[in-house]
Amino acid sequence: MQPLNMAKTQYSAGTTKSPASLPGSGPVLGALMSGRCRDRTALARSGSLTTGPTGSEIHAAHGYLFHQFYSPLANTRKDEYGGSFENRIRLLLEVTWEVKKEWGDEKPLFVRISATDWTEGGWTIEDSVKLANKLKTLGVDLIDTSTGGNVPRATIPTSPGYQAGFAETIKKKTGILTGAVGQITNAEQSEEILQKGMADLILYARESLRNPNLPLYMAYSMGENVEWPIQYNRAKVKL
Ligand SMILES: Cc1cc2nc3c(=O)[nH]c(=O)nc-3n(C[C@H](O)[C@H](O)[C@H](O)COP(=O)(O)O)c2cc1C
Repeated sequence: MQPLNMAKTQYSAGTTKSPASLPGSGPVLGALMSGRCRDRTALARSGSLTTGPTGSEIHAAHGYLFHQFYSPLANTRKDEYGGSFENRIRLLLEVTWEVKKEWGDEKPLFVRISATDWTEGGWTIEDSVKLANKLKTLGVDLIDTSTGGNVPRATIPTSPGYQAGFAETIKKKTGILTGAVGQITNAEQSEEILQKGMADLILYARESLRNPNLPLYMAYSMGENVEWPIQYNRAKVKL
């Protein structure tokens, strides 16, 4: 819970004030705005984002700060950021609102969540659906749907594509775009998830470490003649 303590300490020390214009803004958001989030808005104002990244993602999964707030397993606060569902998601909504204001509508904004804590009494897929609806209202384009990472005692039944069902539930129940991640390793598997309408985007982590040219090989395996980097052309596998 280090980040929570840090946020609280900064506020107690009186180093920040929460922006009065924010709906429901409070001490925690004010404290956070003194740090990385404020750096982020400064970056946006500088114009870097118009020439820089093609998209942005707020990381609210895997036991990081926002997940610590929205999961009842980690959040034991007694103030307006703890207790009820509405209170626990408040920080993420406030920061998302602030980021969206600066980021604008030109480029996509994703939020990565852990759709379940895989633990009795923890965050559930039903909670995720409710959260996704609220994030959609704030203008978030896509929910990057992961799971777990909050408590070590969770038993996670991993298997190929094991998290795609959560992306599907969120997509079907809210209408927001979703991304599927987790043990998705080849083009056929990816295509099946997309064709079944379970998700709109596939994310690869370990497989892209194993094979840095994964997109090129996936295109080849699907019979797609994609352009390779000019420097690689002499190595291009021919269809
Ligand atoms: C070396 C490594 C570093 C990772 N770092 C992050 C990270 O910083 N943030 C994150 O959300 N997930 C991180 N992940 C998790 C991946 O994004 C992904 O959710 C997970 O590995 C499951 O997908 P995969 O089966 O395609 O690897 C990392 C995974 C690996 C292997």
